[in-house]
Amino acid sequence: MPKKSPKDLERERARKIEEARMAARGRARQSLSKLQFLAGIFLILSAAFGIYLLATDNSLWILAVSHAYGLVAIAGIDLVFGILCLLMVRQVFLWSIAGALLGVLLQIGDIVTAPQYGMTIQYFAAYLFGLWAFDALLVAQVLVVFLGLFSRVHIRTLTGVGRYRTEFSASRRDFLKSMIAFAGVIAITAAFSYIGQIKQTLPTTTTSGLPAGAVANTSQVQPGSPAYFDYPTGYPNILMQKNDGSLIALSMLCTHVCCQLTYNPSGNQLYCQCHGSIFDENGNVVRGPAVISLPSVQFTVDANKNVFPQSVNGSSPCSQG
Ligand code: FES
Repeated sequence: MPKKSPKDLERERARKIEEARMAARGRARQSLSKLQFLAGIFLILSAAFGIYLLATDNSLWILAVSHAYGLVAIAGIDLVFGILCLLMVRQVFLWSIAGALLGVLLQIGDIVTAPQYGMTIQYFAAYLFGLWAFDALLVAQVLVVFLGLFSRVHIRTLTGVGRYRTEFSASRRDFLKSMIAFAGVIAITAAFSYIGQIKQTLPTTTTSGLPAGAVANTSQVQPGSPAYFDYPTGYPNILMQKNDGSLIALSMLCTHVCCQLTYNPSGNQLYCQCHGSIFDENGNVVRGPAVISLPSVQFTVDANKNVFPQSVNGSSPCSQG
């Protein structure tokens, strides 16, 4: 066998290195395809959990309608990108991860909006994390983000230290741009929330002619026909006649997650549209999920039957007084 020249040996070594590199790239591409497929499944699951939340939690549409529309956008993005991932449209892989990362940040960010609804962050966090669909949605999106982090190893193999861009790769700038684009879509969708807002308006009770500090006159209250007043400002209450003829003033904010209650004259009860809690005429829970009785407002009545609120009794996650 003729002896190979150093040049031939060098060429052969380069060829073997290139073959090994191509084989590694092939394996990396296969692994990335598998990761993309998994990401597609998690994204579709995430969309399904989001749709379930939208369909079953009325408080989203009544109390936090901009969050509801935001979730519509997140579920829509997850569904579209989930399907594209399953169809192996490789260019969307990293966009999907950007969408999932944004979804995780927004879901966690929801919790800090608690004071907007009169609740503490801890109480609202306990409520949200107590919803299995919320947890499942979050886990699905976190898994997609982890798949994205894991994919970096294979992308590095595929690109050969940045020698060429692949159908899977994207620069940090591209990644950031897609996150901003998704955030824009979610913000625009949430901005439409005022269209779908379910107005929570209480029947008003006239206070004209009442002395300063009075919120109602007992002559305005009849069996089955209560009066309404704010105390403290911004916190709705009902003044109603109980079956024994005495008067009681109760908070109109449900002690579950602070949706506004509606008065039901038959049975003298207060009903919550968000998750169906019912309170009796003393503010006690008749049906959950609420477990805390309604706070009551102590009041005095002067000789002219004017009602003056004095203080709030009882505790509620909806800060009052
Ligand atoms: S807010 Fe959930 S039952 Fe009232």
